[in-house]
Amino acid sequence: MHDQKSDQQSYWDNKILEWEGTMYAGNARVSLLERLAVPFRTQLKKRLLVAEELVKNHVADRSLCDLGCGSGVFIIRLLKYNPRNLVGVDIAPSGIEAAKRHASDLGITESRVSFLCEDARVDSSFLQEVDIVTGIGLLDYFQKHEIASLFRAVKGKMFLFSLPTEGKLGAREILRGIYLKIASCPGSYSCSRGEVDGMLTEAGIDNYWYYDRERIRFVTNLPKV
Ligand SMILES: C[S@@+](CC[C@H](N)C(=O)[O-])C[C@H]1O[C@@H](n2cnc3c(N)ncnc32)[C@H](O)[C@@H]1O
Repeated sequence: MHDQKSDQQSYWDNKILEWEGTMYAGNARVSLLERLAVPFRTQLKKRLLVAEELVKNHVADRSLCDLGCGSGVFIIRLLKYNPRNLVGVDIAPSGIEAAKRHASDLGITESRVSFLCEDARVDSSFLQEVDIVTGIGLLDYFQKHEIASLFRAVKGKMFLFSLPTEGKLGAREILRGIYLKIASCPGSYSCSRGEVDGMLTEAGIDNYWYYDRERIRFVTNLPKV
């Protein structure tokens, strides 16, 4: 039997820096497979900017945890909004090492920003002191019961999670399926808005809303400004 935790961990440990290289740093050394995926990544860069727009007015003097932080790109972008502190969590040791290097190169002190290598499906104890929880491109790799469990853990907090969008099986979806197969991704899932509604209701969360535009979907309970 496969150990799902270590499958996801080794997949992302090998993949995240290359994946981010095609997203945020055009000059990184990346494989042919990742280069072929570049035209489909524009949407994902936009998704990060939308997340920043949605969260930026709520960050001041609050503590925020970004789950699936990769090398800390989003966390570091949020520093300018004067958070009390920021925590980045990722399953991939390579992502966390890069995030720590990135922060230290920028002279950012550990009291303001810290990074933890954890599997957010297994442990959420680090969320206890946190006011806002974000996850961008994370729930795509969670099974439904793992999403439901994360929703229970964020009850009473502000949250912002991107969600995979369902839709017609077009060229983009077919190519993504081929990419995931070639890359040997151990698990990529999708769930409908109706299923997310059910999980949030079951978690006792009712004051949430969706941002749903141009194939970018977030579910959040951040106050609308
Ligand atoms: C698609 S990338 C998104 C990275 C970043 N949030 C962004 O939008 O640029 C997904 C990230 O989630 C992390 N991840 C996947 N499963 C995870 C888990 N169970 N716990 C914590 N991090 C996880 C991966 O290592 C990877 O860094």
